[in-house]
Amino acid sequence: MNATMSLEKTKHYPVMLNQVLSIISPQHGGTFIDCTFGGGGYSEAILKFPQTQVTAIDRDKLVERFSKPLTKRFPKRFNFFQEKFSNIGKLDQNKLNARAIIFDLGLSSFQLSDDKRGFSFGSKNFLNMEMGINEYSTYEVINTLDKEYLAKIIKILGDEKDGKLIANKIDKYRKKKPIKSSEQLASIIKEAKKNYNRYKINPATKTFQAIRIFVNKELTELILGLIEATKLLSNGGVLAVVSFHSLEDKIVKNFFNLYSNLKTNPSRYLPERNEKSILFKNVSKKPIVPHQDEIIKNKRSRSAKLRYAIRNANSFFYPEDFKNKFIKYTELEGGKI
Ligand SMILES: C[S@@+](CC[C@H](N)C(=O)[O-])C[C@H]1O[C@@H](n2cnc3c(N)ncnc32)[C@H](O)[C@@H]1O
Repeated sequence: MNATMSLEKTKHYPVMLNQVLSIISPQHGGTFIDCTFGGGGYSEAILKFPQTQVTAIDRDKLVERFSKPLTKRFPKRFNFFQEKFSNIGKLDQNKLNARAIIFDLGLSSFQLSDDKRGFSFGSKNFLNMEMGINEYSTYEVINTLDKEYLAKIIKILGDEKDGKLIANKIDKYRKKKPIKSSEQLASIIKEAKKNYNRYKINPATKTFQAIRIFVNKELTELILGLIEATKLLSNGGVLAVVSFHSLEDKIVKNFFNLYSNLKTNPSRYLPERNEKSILFKNVSKKPIVPHQDEIIKNKRSRSAKLRYAIRNANSFFYPEDFKNKFIKYTELEGGKI
């Protein structure tokens, strides 16, 4: 079986599709921006409602093939762009009044199961882990990045306490010869984490997450994507985000809280909040999580959290406080290799 055939056979279940649809209400028609097209599950479901227009974005060139059938079926109502969502503001078509902008973060099943992409621990292929439109690959990061910087990435972006130990082990191996595959990297990490048997998850899970986030600058993308989306939305527009790990959820939660009524005054002696500093009128207080039957059908959905907010009529201003709050991550991802 060639790679294309196996890719076509993989099934991607759109996570919490019903919950997303009930928040964005496509039955009323309007323009929708699907920032993470993937297998096209959300876009297709929205297009089933006749008065809708969908602009879809994905940084991955390979998912373009899944957009083709939709372009054919809905030539006047559907557009696809291979682009990073931090750039949504640059696409002319998006300068329309969007009813909703949706992010379903992370990887699709197609990316995860494609051995050539190197996202899985057992992949014997070249160390890649690129989602698309990247500056460098995992191969370059693992084999050339300064040892201390590598340790920092693993610790902070993977929440991996053994970051230093793992970086030292990687350094020991790469000095002899370059580390070439994900399988090889996973086995080096396993060796560094001597007590790995105690762990339920694969000992390389956190390190792989950290490296993947770094290579794709995922947190910077999310921060800029949220800001750009807020700029594009007008009064009543919905911003909906499905996240899959705690760093992503922390960023989304803080963004919504900082610029909505949910942020209370830290002290009654401080002046009241300026009404103009609020950008969202309604924010989900608690994240929405998948029902048990969805988790049984699609294990990947178990860590998903859906948050949304509704834009108010206030003019957009650049959310400096938010940017500064997470500067530690954007600076770390911005490190040159
Ligand atoms: C979880 S999948 C989306 C699945 C989709 N909702 C569906 O129903 O099929 C995430 C997709 O977002 C894309 N993606 C991740 N980060 C991105 C970014 N910064 N810009 C554009 N696309 C991104 C990935 O390439 C992947 O295809």
